[in-house]
Amino acid sequence: MIDYNQQILTPYDIGNRRLRNRLAVAPMTRVSGTEAGLATAEIARYYERFAKGGFGLVITEGLYTDQKYAQGYPFQPGLSDVEQAKAWRRVTDLVRAHNGSVFAQLMHAGALNQGNRFETATAAPSAVRPKGTQMKFYYGEGQYPLPQAMSDEDIADAIAGFAQAAVLATHTAGFDGIEIHGANGYLLDQFLTDYTNQRDDRWGGNVQARIRLTLEVIKAVRAAVGTLAPVGVRISQSKVNDYEHKWAEGEAAAEVIFGSLKDAGVDFIHVTEFEAWKPAFIEGNASLVELARRYASQVAIIANGGLDVPHHAEQVLRDGADMIALGKAALANPDLPSRLATHTTLAEFDASILGPIANIKDSELALA
Ligand SMILES: Cc1cc2nc3c(=O)[nH]c(=O)nc-3n(C[C@H](O)[C@H](O)[C@H](O)COP(=O)(O)O)c2cc1C
Repeated sequence: MIDYNQQILTPYDIGNRRLRNRLAVAPMTRVSGTEAGLATAEIARYYERFAKGGFGLVITEGLYTDQKYAQGYPFQPGLSDVEQAKAWRRVTDLVRAHNGSVFAQLMHAGALNQGNRFETATAAPSAVRPKGTQMKFYYGEGQYPLPQAMSDEDIADAIAGFAQAAVLATHTAGFDGIEIHGANGYLLDQFLTDYTNQRDDRWGGNVQARIRLTLEVIKAVRAAVGTLAPVGVRISQSKVNDYEHKWAEGEAAAEVIFGSLKDAGVDFIHVTEFEAWKPAFIEGNASLVELARRYASQVAIIANGGLDVPHHAEQVLRDGADMIALGKAALANPDLPSRLATHTTLAEFDASILGPIANIKDSELALA
């Protein structure tokens, strides 16, 4: 039985969007689009279940933003042209039909690209081969390729891709908000990370320079969508290919990062860590959520990472989170908020859903 403080079920506003409660579905890539990157009827049914089951907010899987280097996986859906945007319309309509809200997560894979139908090379801040190996459940195999260092023009194209995808998301696809993927080892996080960003131009160097691309993307996205929809960003230390990573500058980095995101005018920061309630650094006791709250006062904070355990969720709510995002627990319980409201036992997450490929399974669509 899970029994969070029932305040989690009260409404919450992000920007101009009223969410019916403070529970969000975390973004989860399911490589179930068509080869051309279109969302399908199956994807629509998959997302609909979360809204039907009471989640206040659904954040989509990472959607690629341009027809150059952004795509990371075969069958990853995109938001890079009108056709792809139109395909999302049935998802957004269905979610809203159940009084839910849905934000598009905009993602550029950078060096972690393991399947891109537009370019054969991969692109990154610097020519540094990513740690780890490609993810098998997204059709990957072996080492990541050595990326090419992005030129100023490549960087400008990437920023423009985020802005164009944001316009398509809000004007054509009908999304209620935008989450910029700045976390987990993908392009924006590669710029933020000391060992993957070895540039000596304005995009590299100290943490203020390394967060610059994320800030420029926020600025471009905000200029593109105006106040039509909330705009936020996902931030983490850990990466899909480097779980243990800590920001080299410790709490000083947190001050710069969260402070400059706030100054850039984001409506929300989605803080994710493997275990979000734990101290962020070896020195000091503050969690990353607590540091986000401290340095980005007034900005909505969504917390994610192992928060299906009630006392962990309560910890991050005490640390200052406004909302909780759930990944695996939402897969196991698409109706988790309804279960909470009725004090019903939750189903355990069954990892076999994600194997051998992480695509959407018929058994899931039978849930809720
Ligand atoms: C199958 C799967 C796919 C994921 N894809 C994404 C993604 O596209 N974008 C993202 O920001 N995080 C992604 N994540 C990370 C989740 O959003 C979340 O941070 C992680 O599951 C930890 O939260 P949890 O403990 O509630 O599951 C993914 C996680 C899983 C399990």
